[in-house]
Amino acid sequence: MRKKIILDTDPGIDDVMAIMFAEAHPEIELKAITTVFGNVSIETATHNALYLKQKYQLKADVVKGTSKPLVRLPVGPTVVVHGESGFGDVEVPAKVAGEVDSRCAYQYIIDAVKAEPNEITLVAIGPLTNLALALQADPNIVNLVKEVVVMGGAFGVNDHRGNVTPYAEANVHDDPHAADIVFSAAWPVVIIGLDVTQQSFFTGDYLDRLRDDAAEVGQFIWDVSRFYLKFYKEKVGIDACHVHDPSAIAYVIDPELFTLREGPVRVVTEGPAEGMTIQKFDDRTYPNDEWSKHTPQRVGVAVKDTELLAIYRQCIIEYGHRIS
Ligand code: BDR
Ligand code: CA
Repeated sequence: MRKKIILDTDPGIDDVMAIMFAEAHPEIELKAITTVFGNVSIETATHNALYLKQKYQLKADVVKGTSKPLVRLPVGPTVVVHGESGFGDVEVPAKVAGEVDSRCAYQYIIDAVKAEPNEITLVAIGPLTNLALALQADPNIVNLVKEVVVMGGAFGVNDHRGNVTPYAEANVHDDPHAADIVFSAAWPVVIIGLDVTQQSFFTGDYLDRLRDDAAEVGQFIWDVSRFYLKFYKEKVGIDACHVHDPSAIAYVIDPELFTLREGPVRVVTEGPAEGMTIQKFDDRTYPNDEWSKHTPQRVGVAVKDTELLAIYRQCIIEYGHRIS
């Protein structure tokens, strides 16, 4: 049976790479794309999702989510990383066919998991605001969701601590209060953070070969990734980009690709370290402990990067030929 997912996303260049991965993989049923502010505004995120739905005839519903964080002031779109359109230099047509679902994202999530209890995995690859709103509106969904897989956070493993501040990853930094709610809730969360996503690289050469071998979709992924690679070359000094959002999809496809560490996770919500994610993974007891009363969650600490890259490549190539 295919694994049913709702993909919560702020598309976004690596979000496109992840959406296409989810759509392409025969073992995943992409039920819905719920949008969230983050890399781009909520309007652009939703427009981009509708554009992908139209372009690739996706069956997934597109559902508009929230435009701002729960508490903090919005950080604003990351134009420098994802471009004005969110798809780098690729222009998205102003008019796109298709309609968004009439519900807001958090209500859609609640309705969907109630309709199919313990069948749906929520995969979040943007700020966690929609998921936190769903938990606030109906706390009982913790018993109805199969699993929550999050691309976000950084725990200092493999020396990866942050990408927008020295100690915070972008998705968590965009809404630290939401992330703390999602990570400390009593549902099973797997966190695929920078600790593992910065261990895998789509190199310039890898993307060139994907363009050559994966028909139109390979060309599209290559086109949207030009701006991203330029950013990485200028700011990080590498001819490659990290495999952030597609890694969350890779976990759903094959959890064995990752080594996980268990323990409750909290998020720093204010001050210079806001957005910092901290896991308690020892058994020691302390006189004061804001971790132990929460559900142990699992954090990715190692990844089989060569295998992950091979799965992505094969999946996109097969899909490219299937639809052309
Ligand atoms: C995350 O932040 C966004 O820029 C990417 O789309 C990804 O979800 C990486 O820190
Ligand atoms: Ca994202």
